[in-house]
Amino acid sequence: MERGTVADKPWGGRFGERTDRRVEEFTESISFDRRLFDQDVRGSIAHAEMLAHVGLISTAECQQIVRGLSEIRAEIVAGTFPFVLEREDIHMHIEAALIDRIGDVGRKLHTARSRNDQVATDVKLWTRDALDRIDGRLKTLQTALVNAAGRHEGLILPGYTHLQRAQPVLAAHYYLAYVEKYARDRSRLTDCRSRLNVLPLGAAAMAGTTLPIDRDHVAVALGFEGVAANSMDVSSDRDFLVESVFVLTMVAEHLAGWAEEWVIWSTQEFSFLKLPDGLCTGSSIMPQKKNPDVLELIRGRSARVVGSLMTLLVLIKGLPLAYNRDLQEDKEPLFDAFDTVDACLDLASVIVDGATLRADKIAARIDEGFLDATTLMEYLIKQGVPQRTGHEIVGHLVGLAEKKGGRLADLSDDDFRQAHPKLDPSVRQTLGVANAINAFRSYGSTAPDQVAKQLLGWKARLEMS
Ligand code: ARG
Repeated sequence: MERGTVADKPWGGRFGERTDRRVEEFTESISFDRRLFDQDVRGSIAHAEMLAHVGLISTAECQQIVRGLSEIRAEIVAGTFPFVLEREDIHMHIEAALIDRIGDVGRKLHTARSRNDQVATDVKLWTRDALDRIDGRLKTLQTALVNAAGRHEGLILPGYTHLQRAQPVLAAHYYLAYVEKYARDRSRLTDCRSRLNVLPLGAAAMAGTTLPIDRDHVAVALGFEGVAANSMDVSSDRDFLVESVFVLTMVAEHLAGWAEEWVIWSTQEFSFLKLPDGLCTGSSIMPQKKNPDVLELIRGRSARVVGSLMTLLVLIKGLPLAYNRDLQEDKEPLFDAFDTVDACLDLASVIVDGATLRADKIAARIDEGFLDATTLMEYLIKQGVPQRTGHEIVGHLVGLAEKKGGRLADLSDDDFRQAHPKLDPSVRQTLGVANAINAFRSYGSTAPDQVAKQLLGWKARLEMS
């Protein structure tokens, strides 16, 4: 980066010596906070318009400032804006460039403002935009999952606990489980957004200002729902970052669990899942390989997001009021967490859209693992047998079937009758995964009518939201 001049520093009056180059290199944030340029310009325009509104600057001055800021924004977008080390961060860059352009009028922009409330405002605006973007991505993923649920209608999967076969579930029920998880993530985003949406600007350095500003005016212009009531609090507040990155961490964890599941499902041993070639990669030595690298990287990248959350938590630990320079370190973990989750969500939707559950392979082994055992036990309960007794009886029958090398349905009428007199031949209506699925009743279960209702409900909700 270029070196500028001493005049690039707004605090030149107090200092007799030029800042040491090593200090400039160590303290700069322009290399990463230039990403806040649009938010900084928006914030400055709203601030200037408020200054004109209360008479601290004239309307003509305000117009000059707004024009200058818009030109600077266009230059940054075009990639022709010069960044120099002396101008430390994006806030100083934009203000100094404005002064270069319009002179003394530009020197009025920082009236009743500090970089402390300015940076808090910029980061809030950036985070708010980012939360909205992630919400859109989550909606797209939910839609992909709902479509996949519709595509695999009627398909029965083995459900697992401890990664051991447990009970049969409809594929649609499986897909909708993730739709629910992302719905909670979206509701956390909404929550977090509304708590975040309170304007810091006007807190100035930390105590407010003696000048007659109108903070509501700025809040309305920037779409904030309220104005922060305590200048010391808001200039040091980064709770909203921790909360936002926590929500992202939850999303990353949900993605990682699903990715792990699908890595397993795409193995030769499971053969549940077919991934399109375009979404897989090969091996440089083993010609037959088709690897689920995207899923593995989604699983792996969750580590970065958890890492960002930890960085932020440790960063704010033990900070006294109000602004401390430590807070400059909040941006990189914030940006990285958002970028990572953004990209993972994008690819996750592509994979859900492109992947097919291999109905033939799944059906070929669906009778293994006694998925109907719990249904049989509940059949006995319906006949008046205490649950513990029913459990024992079915456990015994499972042992017997295992010994004989078959399914529960392969046991003889005599085997059933000997196990319990209530187990007459009509018990066969509950055996097998199809019967077991149809026997479900409870709200939220994998019962076909329940699942159909949920699927319809989700389709409608996603169309509306
Ligand atoms: N670059 C700083 C940050 O990101 C801006 C605020 C600096 N404030 C100050 N008083 N030095 O936090």
